[in-house]
Amino acid sequence: MASFTAVGVNSASARVLRPARGDDLEDLARINLAAFRAGNAPALSAAAAAQLTTEAARLQWQEFLGHPPPGSTVTVAELDSRLRGFAGAGPSRDDDLDPTVGELYSLYVDPDFWAQGHGSALHDAALSQRTRGEFASAALWVLEGNARAQRFYRARGWKPDGTQRPFMGANSLRLRRLLSGEL
Ligand SMILES: CC(C)(COP(=O)(O)OP(=O)(O)OC[C@H]1O[C@@H](n2cnc3c(N)ncnc32)[C@H](O)[C@@H]1OP(=O)(O)O)[C@@H](O)C(=O)NCCC(=O)NCCS
Repeated sequence: MASFTAVGVNSASARVLRPARGDDLEDLARINLAAFRAGNAPALSAAAAAQLTTEAARLQWQEFLGHPPPGSTVTVAELDSRLRGFAGAGPSRDDDLDPTVGELYSLYVDPDFWAQGHGSALHDAALSQRTRGEFASAALWVLEGNARAQRFYRARGWKPDGTQRPFMGANSLRLRRLLSGEL
């Protein structure tokens, strides 16, 4: 069943966190593209950065919302009834990690609304859902050159575990953290 959390100081500006719905498709694709360009693209070559187009983002979301991987969730943050960001999470997809490890698949906030707490709220909500399940720890992948995201994650207890892989011609680092207690 869908759960809703209102966070804010007054009803005009309360942030609502809720599961993504099929009719969020266009907003998810738009925010995915804009945040990817603002956060990840500067760490990529121009040719690699150009690979994520509006159409590609829309197709990815169509596939994900139509056929969500088992155990996965996508949480969205709304402010004034407009989508501001999203976080995807679920079981780790890495072969070398055991089934007690969850993964933060994605965390993207509309760049026009960065530094307003949406990323933190989505991060905590996604990880809280994981702690209610069978996961003892979590992993995520982030581009080495994505300085803002690296800073964001490290301030929230994530640490590199030394595993790296190429991603779109750049280097991606795996970060890990325990999931225990209150976030
Ligand atoms: C990384 C990202 C998700 C952060 O989202 P965000 O909404 O800006 O995150 P927050 O606002 O919660 O926090 C960002 C900073 O603003 C600060 N902040 C939060 N609310 C604030 C407020 N009301 N006023 C001023 N600063 C605030 C936070 O303290 C935080 O600083 P810290 O990281 O040093 O702790 C966002 O920059 C993004 O979408 N990046 C592009 C995509 C990406 O790289 N994703 C991660 C890799 S998959």
